[in-house]
Amino acid sequence: TAMPMVDPFGRSIDYVRVSVTDRCDLRCTYCMSERQTFLPRVELLSIEELDRLCSVFVGLGTRRLRLTGGEPLIRKGFMDLVAGLSRHLRSGALDELTLTTNGTHLAEHAGSLARHGVRRINVSLDTLDPDAYRRVTRGGDLSKALAGIAAARAAGIAIKINTVALKADNAPDLPDMVAWAHGEGHEITLIETMPLGEIDADRTDQFLSLTEVRRDLEARWTLTPLARRTGGPSRYVRVEETGGTLGFITPMTHTFCETCNRVRVTCTGRLYLCLGQDDHADLRPVLRAGDDAAVAEAIRAAVARKPKSHDFRIGTGLAPAVARPMSMTGG
Ligand code: GTP
Ligand code: 5AD
Ligand code: SF4
Repeated sequence: TAMPMVDPFGRSIDYVRVSVTDRCDLRCTYCMSERQTFLPRVELLSIEELDRLCSVFVGLGTRRLRLTGGEPLIRKGFMDLVAGLSRHLRSGALDELTLTTNGTHLAEHAGSLARHGVRRINVSLDTLDPDAYRRVTRGGDLSKALAGIAAARAAGIAIKINTVALKADNAPDLPDMVAWAHGEGHEITLIETMPLGEIDADRTDQFLSLTEVRRDLEARWTLTPLARRTGGPSRYVRVEETGGTLGFITPMTHTFCETCNRVRVTCTGRLYLCLGQDDHADLRPVLRAGDDAAVAEAIRAAVARKPKSHDFRIGTGLAPAVARPMSMTGG
């Protein structure tokens, strides 16, 4: 098996996140503007190009692949991509093939995902209140997401719920979200909003510091820090009273970049070295003109200049820190 790539700061890069579409059936207020337009289809990498690109990464030592969006399950041909990439799980080259989804189309697809070797998925769910859900997602139906989660569990897929902490929409409900998730047997991670892309609202009004949330949770429960790390931004604790796992992603108040193990590819084939930096390499022309060796060389050259850390700031008058929307980059 291939050795992972190593960046200039000695970090092994063995985890890749790939956005397969910028489209989404929801328009969460912290993610997109009401008027967000989507890219013309010709701009997107084809399913074949996505497979090829992911496979080149596997050849460069990538052990974990996370497919994101937008909403990955609405990309035409998505299940063919998963089916194709599952060969790397069977060969042992890949440890994990997973996705981050809003869950609205999960009920139809959970069985196939499980059959293709997906063992864990992350589902974005910011509230259990149907009205608040409709408001945050701009029209979404909570029952669809819940049905998706139930179907995934029934298919034997482990679930991590992602909840973005929002001052006006879910602040008082976060402890109950955690209790619900743990009661259902799911992990849950709370996330601070990050300044990516133009949205209609003022992020300073949405932003809720997890420092305060954590204080509330600690008043109710005993939180024991866990050593477990995924190379991502999450810090995990066990909630002793529920027995469940709880993560905190605090890009605005903490730095986790020293152990970053990842790079990300947009749905148009741009390789971003960091979620919070604009430097990237455009792999699409290389994919279209070159052979796999040329693609591998372009990836290596880009990883050789991965920056030390992101540059996010909220409330400094500099928002958005990064102009490209989250939906193109996939988090
Ligand atoms: P694993 O690391 O695979 O367990 O998943 P995750 O929890 O990082 O991924 P998920 O897709 O659930 O994303 C959760 C949140 O983490 C999203 O808001 C992502 O944008 C954010 N995130 C993931 N990777 C990074 C990163 O490298 N830097 C920053 N700042 N945020 C990240
Ligand atoms: N800040 C933090 N998290 C975000 N997500 C989408 N936009 C943002 C943002 N601006 C979350 C989604 C999903 C994950 C991939 O990223 O809710 O769970
Ligand atoms: Fe869609 Fe996810 Fe963005 Fe919400 S956060 S609009 S579900 S891509």
